[in-house]
Formats: sequence, C-alpha cells, structure tokens
Amino acid sequence: MAQIRISGGVPLEGEVRISGAKNAVLPILVASLLGDEPSQVSNVPHLQDVTTTMELLGRMGAQLAVDERMQIEIDPREMRDFEAPYELVKTMRASILVLGPLVARFGRAIVSLPGGCAIGSRPVNLHLHGLRQLGAEVSVENGNIIARADRLKGARIVFDTVTVTGTENIMMAACLARGTSVIENAAQEPEVVDLAGFLNSMGARIEGAGTNTLVIEGVERLGGTKYSVLPDRIETGTYLVAGAMTSGRVRVTRARPRDLDAVIDKLAETGAVMTTGEDWIEIDMRGRRPKSVDITTAPYPAFPTDMQAQFTALNTIAEGTGIVTETVFENRFMHVQELQRLGADIRLKGNSAIVRGVAQLTGAPIMATDLRASAGLVLAGLVARGQTVVDRVYHIDRGYEIIEEKLGQLGARIRRVSGKQAA
Ligand code: EPZ
Repeated sequence: MAQIRISGGVPLEGEVRISGAKNAVLPILVASLLGDEPSQVSNVPHLQDVTTTMELLGRMGAQLAVDERMQIEIDPREMRDFEAPYELVKTMRASILVLGPLVARFGRAIVSLPGGCAIGSRPVNLHLHGLRQLGAEVSVENGNIIARADRLKGARIVFDTVTVTGTENIMMAACLARGTSVIENAAQEPEVVDLAGFLNSMGARIEGAGTNTLVIEGVERLGGTKYSVLPDRIETGTYLVAGAMTSGRVRVTRARPRDLDAVIDKLAETGAVMTTGEDWIEIDMRGRRPKSVDITTAPYPAFPTDMQAQFTALNTIAEGTGIVTETVFENRFMHVQELQRLGADIRLKGNSAIVRGVAQLTGAPIMATDLRASAGLVLAGLVARGQTVVDRVYHIDRGYEIIEEKLGQLGARIRRVSGKQAA
C-alpha cells in the first residue's frame, strides 16, 4: 500500500492552484443522467471518487469520454441498467446520488444501501422520505433500496436535518416531476448551488439555491450542457491551514474566497494576516506560531465539518488551548489517536476535543482513517520533527488531487512511496 513520507519543519512558501470541488463534481456527473443529450463537465479534479463515479455511470450504459484536460463528456442516451451495486457503493457513499435521477428519468432504481462509515452512522432515511413524498414507491430488500415511479409528482418536502446529498438527490429528482416541489430546510452549501446551476443550464427551473428553501418547477425534459465545476473550498482551506501551521506564507489561486468566510475568520483569529482577491486568498503568518482557536462545526454557512480535522491538527501545535466541537457527524475524531502518536495533547469529551497546543510534535508512523482525517495527519506531519509516515493514503486520493506535488511546490519535504517500496 502506498504511503506518504514527510520530514517536517519547513515553513511553506509560495502559490498553489486549487482544483475543482469533489463534492460538486460527483452530483454534477450524476445529474447529467437526467438529460436526453450529452453534457460536458470541465474543471474536474483527478480523484479516485471521480473515477468511481465514472465507473458507476459507465456500467449503467452511459458513454463517457475524458480528454487530457480532464474534461468529461457524459452521454446518457444508451442507459440500460439502473443499478448501483454494493461493490461500488461501499467504496463511495456518494453513489446514493444516482437514486433520485434514475427514478425521475427512467422510473426505477436499485441502489445498494450504504452501510456505516468511519465518521458516523450516516443514514439515508431522508433521501428515501423525500422520494416517497414525490410519489416514488421505495422499499429496502436484500440490502438494496428499490425505487419505482411512473412520473414523480411535485411535493413539499421538509427535511428535519440539513442534509447535503439528501437535498441534492431530491432536488435532482424534482426537476423532472410533474408540478412544483418545495424543499424546506435545504442544505445551502456552495456545492448544492453549483449543482442547481448545472441543472438550470440543462433546462431545469430551480430557484432559491443558496437559501434554505428551494422551489423547483418540474419540466418535461432536460437537455445537455457545458459546465465548469466550482473550486474546492475544502482543498483551499486545507492549504491555508498548512500555511498557518508551518508559520509560512501561502497563496491559493483559482479559489473562491466567498465560500470560505467561516474558515478565513478562524484563520485570522490564529493571528494570520489574511488577504483576498477575486479568485485568490493569501495567508501570511509572518513567521509566528498560530494561536489556538475554538471551532464548532455545523451546516453551511457555519464552520464546515470537512475542515474539522485540519483545525484539530492546527490546534495541536498552537499557542493555548482550543476546543473543537463536532455537531454534524458523531464519530469524526478518528484522527485524534493518530495525532496523539505524534505527541499531541488532546482530550475527548463527548463531541468535543480539547486540544492543548504543544511546542513540538515528533514524527511517527500513523494511519489515515478517512479522507479529511488523513488531511489533518499530513498537516501535522508538516510540522512534526523527524519523519512522519502516513499509511493508507488511498483515503487522501479520494479527495485531494496530487497533494504531495502541491505541498512539494510550497517547499514541503514530502514524497509518496509506492506499495512495493513501502513494504
Ligand atoms: C456531504 O455528505 C459530503 N459528501 C460530506 O463530505 C460532508 O462531510 C457532509 O455533506 C457534511 O457537509 C458529499 O457531498 C459527497 P449529510 P452527506 O447528509 O450528504 C444526517 C468529505 O470528506 N443524515 O449532509 O452524506 C447525517 O447522519 C465528506 O468530502 C440523516 O440523519 O452528509 C449527518 O449527521 C465526507 N439522514 C447529517 O445528517 C439522512 O438521510 C449531515 O449529513 C441523511 C443525513
């Protein structure tokens, strides 16, 4: 298995270019199934989850073509199979996103029910509830969600918890329903807004994206489109934290600063000088050690759970004590034990981690447990004295494009060691 090896202690300096957003491109690729013409999606990051999504769509009969710039063309005209099998769903929970589009466009879907996950139980009851409200017949048999409908009917759906992919699934399905649908307590994440933009460019009529109420007027058909995916705000935030932790100066380019207000505010609280332009953000620590910060995760526009592990890592070497409270997922502290192996002083209490900053972490072999946890571990490795070896880096490859190259460009001493060399 591949590993990432880091020799910590270099203040990062320079510029890094941000890729397209993983959590926008996955629903967008899936949404292209709703059209009766091909669509082209650009600014697609080269990630394992994108490959898995393409495999899923390809198995269903969609024709896919990728050019050297990772522009993907999806032609759904030959779709013939409406199933997302367990072997793919278990590697990528976002496969659940095919449920709404398949039922809306083809009248049937079989999607393996995702099981538990490293970060929490992550049920999909709200996705199923929403689809039933739209008139689909939904049952769970032999580990599969089976959904059928002639034509979905517009309905008012009130989510009792804010759910990102739940909102996306129902929004996609409602586009082809007869009549108007209203989704209340909808997720307001930029990725939901980007998906709505994609759907509207295919001919959908969605209003209210970016607020907690979506109004979707169903249309008879959707066509194809050309669309460029928004920049990844979590990747952006991760490189900024890398700058903060290493007392460096990092500029992220091709980013979208307005999607990161909560993160930028917290970085400013660490003592960083933050400067933003139209599509760039710069963090400058002026060589100082960051001050610790308290964070509480919650749905957008509050502080994102996907940045929690990175800020936990930051607090481990910051001046003072920071309290990190996770309210979105019940088990998203798997990185804590690994950070402790590097010498971090962290105490878990309920859904909070009390992190007392230490002057120095020391390198050790550690293990990635999920995508963002592994980003936190890599960041910690950048400041730990000596060598840190992060194992199970396939978690990182699901969501960070060439992370070792990008950090290398900023001066980090980091390299990937392939399975054979690592053994
Ligand atoms: C999306 O997951 C993201 N994934 C996650 O990104 C992200 O952490 C999460 O939203 C929160 O921002 C994609 O966009 C592909 P939720 P999702 O439904 O949609 C509960 C990453 O690292 N809930 O918004 O699965 C759920 O248990 C990741 O890139 C129900 O109770 O998250 C959780 O407590 C991982 N019933 C809360 O809602 C449901 O039917 C929010 O989860 C659905 C969700």
